[in-house]
Amino acid sequence: MLNRRKFLEKAAAAGMLSLVPGMLKANTEAIQNPLKKSLPAFISTWNHGIAANAEGMKVLSSGGSVVDAVENAVMLIEADPENASVGIGGWPDREGIVTLDASIMGPDGNAGSVCFLQNILHPVSVARLVMEKTPHVILAGEGALLFARQSGFKEKNLLTPKAKEAWEKWLKESKYDPVINWENEPNKYHDTIGLLAIDQKGDLAGACTTSGLAFKMHGRVGDSPIIGAGLFVDNEVGAATATGMGELVLKTLGSFLVVELMRNGRNPMEACKEAVLRIVKKDPENVKRQVGFIALGKNGETGAFSLQPGFNYALYQEGINEMFDSKSYY
Ligand code: GLY
Repeated sequence: MLNRRKFLEKAAAAGMLSLVPGMLKANTEAIQNPLKKSLPAFISTWNHGIAANAEGMKVLSSGGSVVDAVENAVMLIEADPENASVGIGGWPDREGIVTLDASIMGPDGNAGSVCFLQNILHPVSVARLVMEKTPHVILAGEGALLFARQSGFKEKNLLTPKAKEAWEKWLKESKYDPVINWENEPNKYHDTIGLLAIDQKGDLAGACTTSGLAFKMHGRVGDSPIIGAGLFVDNEVGAATATGMGELVLKTLGSFLVVELMRNGRNPMEACKEAVLRIVKKDPENVKRQVGFIALGKNGETGAFSLQPGFNYALYQEGINEMFDSKSYY
């Protein structure tokens, strides 16, 4: 595992992620969701989803479990120092400290997460150990770090010079007003990678990992590590994950809602749309914030919906790994 981590870090630092199979289609023009229903499938948020999907499919094809696949898929993105919203290179909070949230769920309904974790390159791997090796679901802050240390994780400074520079620039005005779709700015990706997978047997898993909102208050925890908010998997029904302004997702328990709607007969696209409509109805902040959901049904059907235009996702199914623009409320 350690060697693999080192490789991923080096590959990311050397810009080799663009060589990962499947990367080439990252910027294809928007087309509608094809509503394929086949297994296996990977679906994940934003442009970085293409590389993550490819990594997950590689793990699955070489005999890994669906949980191995989702963990390794998002680890690739956590290790990329150019990614300003996940893992190393993530933009810090307003004290200049990078704090990480991550969660993982498997087909057995088990779940693990960490929040407000510092100095650990792969929070999703710590979350997986919380799921598999502890009687708990969430470990936070110092406790999560202690558990990570005791589990053999090494500490590392996650604040890259580029992220430090962004923070120093932000400090001059210190205005907190998260921008919609800041992934559209060059070399930046918005938020969270949330990734869902279904294997050939129909078993589902998901993982979600983020450095959260740039320049958040120190101690702020978003939706990503909260099971049911940023991520939910029910192996009988389907899975969902969220990206965007975590506060809006937390107040509606968005991913759980999507899965419950699917249980009650909505297809993944309709379920994601309904969860967005719930935010529109309940939260006046919705007009100036972004939230996107993706979902994966037990039959391999996928869907997505967002508040604002500009949310995109990667889908790897039937041998094709490609980007789609989500439909949106506004
Ligand atoms: N959706 C990630 C966050 O709000 O932290």
